[in-house]
Amino acid sequence: MPRLTLTAVSKRFDRFQALDSVSLAIPDGAFLALLGPSGCGKTTLLRLIAGLEVPDDGEIRFDDDVVAGETAFVPPERRRIGMVFQSYALWPTMSVRGNIEFGLKVARLTAQERAARIDEVLDVVGLRGLGDRRPHELSGGQRQRVALARSLATRPKLILLDEPLANLDAHLREAMLTEFRRIHSLTGATFVFVTHDQDEAMAVATHVAVMDRGRLEQLGTLEELYRRPASPMVARFIGRGRTLPVKVVKSEGGRTRVMLGQQLLDMPGDAPVGHGWLAFHASDLRRAPEGGQLKTELVGQVFQNGAFLSHCLPTEIDGDVVSLALPERLAPGTPIELAFTGGWVIGDGGTGHGGSGDGVPDVTGRSSACRPAVISLR
Ligand SMILES: Nc1ncnc2c1ncn2[C@@H]1O[C@H](COP(=O)(O)OP(=O)(O)OP(=O)(O)O)[C@@H](O)[C@H]1O
Ligand SMILES: [Mg+2]
Repeated sequence: MPRLTLTAVSKRFDRFQALDSVSLAIPDGAFLALLGPSGCGKTTLLRLIAGLEVPDDGEIRFDDDVVAGETAFVPPERRRIGMVFQSYALWPTMSVRGNIEFGLKVARLTAQERAARIDEVLDVVGLRGLGDRRPHELSGGQRQRVALARSLATRPKLILLDEPLANLDAHLREAMLTEFRRIHSLTGATFVFVTHDQDEAMAVATHVAVMDRGRLEQLGTLEELYRRPASPMVARFIGRGRTLPVKVVKSEGGRTRVMLGQQLLDMPGDAPVGHGWLAFHASDLRRAPEGGQLKTELVGQVFQNGAFLSHCLPTEIDGDVVSLALPERLAPGTPIELAFTGGWVIGDGGTGHGGSGDGVPDVTGRSSACRPAVISLR
């Protein structure tokens, strides 16, 4: 059963459409990373899930319960969620214990229950013994963990994290990510984690959603988004992907035949006949001594991870620079022929998926009209 289901959720601020018919479902215990360019609506989506904003259209359900919809609205304090935002928002004059206790008082736990619960969550986040300190006596990472402890104390089933690592240094980010993963498996709660950082998402997420301009572009595992992007935007956004324009001449059973310039290629994919895109990553290209499928000219190289990351401009088609690792240094202008060892063909507008409001996409990104709503994680 999905823990969290959004059906055609829209939100406008005056005339600005911040969210446009977003539909998604994630299962109990998922760790969803929400990715997308700045301003695409990630925080707005979290605020709607939390109950800090009211949707203009659509419905939000926790399990079978409607928490926001045409006829129902459950206020934030009754949604049983934990929230951690980029700014920790701790009470500066209260101790660590006092900060955590606040929500437990609201939930009307007895003093004894509160004390036991505080000890428990301080243990979970590794802050035992620091309960009497005030926020200014803690490091940034410790403060972050207090915010997390506070959100865990009420034992929420759903935890929303909005760029919680944004102002920590690289070392601390890594330590906190390990911490998040541990807490996720320890508590079994469903996490929704907004981040700008794909490496961060890869480190913790079971599912990834990519948003663009208020719409959900795709929901799936990171591998699915990487190997089978549903739209040109996702293809370019995930893992520094590249796209080249192609003409789809045939598409059948997950295979396509496309024209890349004058070259006829047989590629996996799912796209209607007509204009489309070949999506790929650096690892899908190799240099072909002759008779390659894409003729290019070297424009620059960067030494990276023991090889030369080489940027090559197509010479016979109108396409962007493509990149691949080569073992040697070459002069700019060197002609380089490339062949594809992998890739994925998509239609001009994508393959049809989330955000259209005509069904709730499951974790494969396909509509529930043709797939079960959710694939269980365990
Ligand atoms: N209260 C508001 N009133 C008017 N416009 C708003 C309001 N809140 C958000 N917006 C607009 O809605 C859009 C989405 O904002 P949101 O904060 O959800 O983006 P985001 O994806 O979280 O971006 P970032 O990655 O920069 O945090 C933005 O264009 C923003 O300016
Ligand atoms: Mg934001």
